[in-house]
Amino acid sequence: MTKDPENIKAMLSTQFNDFILGRHEMVEPLLGDGIFSLDGEGWKHSRTILRPQFAREQVGHVEMLEPHFQMMKRHILKHSDGSPFDIQDLFFKFTIDSATEFLFGGTCGSLRDESIAESGGEQIVNGTDFAKCFNASQLYTNTRILMQWMCIFWNSKEYKRCNEVVHKFADHYVDKVLKMDPDELDKNSSSKYVFLYELAKQTRDPKMLRDQSINILLAGRDTTAGLLSFVFYELAKKPHIWSKLRKEIVDNFGCDTNDTSNVSALSFESLKKCEYLKAVINETLRLYPSVPKNFRVPIRDTTLPRGGGEDESSPIFLPKGSMVAYNVYSMHRNKDVYGENAEDFVPERWFDSNVKNIGWNYLPFNGGPRICLGQQFALTEASYVIARLFVKVA
Ligand code: HEM
Repeated sequence: MTKDPENIKAMLSTQFNDFILGRHEMVEPLLGDGIFSLDGEGWKHSRTILRPQFAREQVGHVEMLEPHFQMMKRHILKHSDGSPFDIQDLFFKFTIDSATEFLFGGTCGSLRDESIAESGGEQIVNGTDFAKCFNASQLYTNTRILMQWMCIFWNSKEYKRCNEVVHKFADHYVDKVLKMDPDELDKNSSSKYVFLYELAKQTRDPKMLRDQSINILLAGRDTTAGLLSFVFYELAKKPHIWSKLRKEIVDNFGCDTNDTSNVSALSFESLKKCEYLKAVINETLRLYPSVPKNFRVPIRDTTLPRGGGEDESSPIFLPKGSMVAYNVYSMHRNKDVYGENAEDFVPERWFDSNVKNIGWNYLPFNGGPRICLGQQFALTEASYVIARLFVKVA
């Protein structure tokens, strides 16, 4: 196990070709063969075809989030009498609803329910709930990753059933897109950005379309919902940070009670200019990185730069096939880098030039060739939701 930035940099970047993710067997029942599960040539191919989908034009499309935000807002306003509610639950529902719309062109509608007088989301699979099954499948998959090669023993009927529901949901949209002729596909994709439509212009392989979409859903959903939840966990405890952030947002976008005010001013560009908002997000991802621990497997005998010798500052030998776990959560709380208040939530530290340039000591989105493809997408979505809550609901 390591939390040394030099070792992590070696695995993710300078010695990238010596290591693989090594998790295909553990995640395959849910994820199949996609960018998040594959290594080697399969991964390279996935990255090549998926990268164009994360160009700035796509990630800038915040309008798509608004209808889902409206649903979430209605749940929040049920508690305008001051009664408590779990905002984390709402963020997880918000992110799966918006992600399924972005990826498949149809939302699973988990925020729609009787309490806000809305009927449920698209019922593609009889009597089953895609969002619930996706959550359950992820939990099983996580345990399989912890079990490593013993994952073969964690393969219950329930896991298989949940994976089937998830696959069926994706297949419904894949079938739909494959039935479109090229003109129809062009027409549909020019009226609204849908990930699956764009991918279908590059491949007609139904398994590839399904697997890559589910891989992106898994990569992008919990990570963003976790970030939003931890932002509000900290803001709830720190009124001075809440006020400072609110002031920045209100100064930039206004805050009136009329539903049509400044919301259209919230864009990729304008949100990027909110420096304190960026600092709050950076600080949240420092203390609560969405991917707190991870691992890599060497595919040949190799070394890592630190951990060997008497004082552990010399290279250390790694036999082929051994597993190296790395812990970003711990690394982000290193007092030598962040100072004595490393455990405290202090967004202001991000205005200190020493902390700004800490390179491999700060790694919420990973680094090197497998750096997160959705970083800008996630930061835009999270910024939109945070700002939107201040502009309207505050
Ligand atoms: C706060 C939100 C997010 C965080 C903290 C985050 C973090 C990460 C990390 C640490 C990895 C590396 C995982 C590994 O190699 O084992 C990763 C990979 C990836 N992320 Fe994100 N992510 C976030 C949101 C998103 C979103 C919204 C999307 C897409 C819409 C996305 C797409 C991806 C993809 C496709 C990969 C795989 C890249 C590859 O292996 O080449 N992520 N992310």
